[in-house]
Amino acid sequence: MKTIELKNVSKLYNKDVCALNNVSFTVNQGEFVAVMGQSGSGKSTLLQIAGLLDSCTSGEVLINGEYVSELDKNKLADIRMKTLGFVFQSFHLNSHLKVYENIMVPMLINNEFKNRAEMKKRAEELVETVGLSHRIDHYPSELSGGEQQRAAIARAMANDPDFILADEPTGNLDSKNEIMIFEELKKLSDSGKGVLVVSHNEAVMDFADRICIMKDGVLSEN
Ligand SMILES: Nc1ncnc2c1ncn2[C@@H]1O[C@H](COP(=O)(O)OP(=O)(O)O)[C@@H](O)[C@H]1O
Ligand SMILES: [Mg+2]
Repeated sequence: MKTIELKNVSKLYNKDVCALNNVSFTVNQGEFVAVMGQSGSGKSTLLQIAGLLDSCTSGEVLINGEYVSELDKNKLADIRMKTLGFVFQSFHLNSHLKVYENIMVPMLINNEFKNRAEMKKRAEELVETVGLSHRIDHYPSELSGGEQQRAAIARAMANDPDFILADEPTGNLDSKNEIMIFEELKKLSDSGKGVLVVSHNEAVMDFADRICIMKDGVLSEN
């Protein structure tokens, strides 16, 4: 069973701001978990610690059963590359690269791809799954916000991760596009990926298998 596990995780910023207070939390493969809560409640902090982008002050994080506190920087980067895919509110696409080139970026640091042709083929498959084949040769500035976020989801899938972690993925989108994005993420969980979405958007509740609430750094299951 693939899992991301947090055990009694706390995070202090500047020794006094307690962003996470003794959080224990698991995301399983095939599961769509939503963490909801007001701005400043600790959602992004949780996602960054679960995604090995930041470290906790106390507690333990395990990825697929492995304690990450024992690993060095290179090994952490390796786990992030192969196991985790990220989606952010403002898409973070490279404006100088076409859609398929953006999707290829994570593949370039993964030596499992033989050559550029193989990477491009994988990018073509991914744009098709997110319904963007007609935009594959376009630059991000030529896409709508919803299309840019679908391209970012395809990029997050580039190295076939076990988990997709999304921080306010619909924060810059209108309601029609936010539903499309949650549908794409739901498809990924149905295909066996573990999906963690942190958001204050209540629309996510229609898609999540499990909803957790974050309040002042304390997480509770709904
Ligand atoms: N890098 C940081 N340095 C200091 N305080 C931070 C930092 N990042 C977040 N915080 C604080 O931690 C708390 C939780 O923030 P965050 O995880 O970003 O919440 P959310 O994503 O729910 O809006 C807030 O009080 C915020 O001000
Ligand atoms: Mg946030």
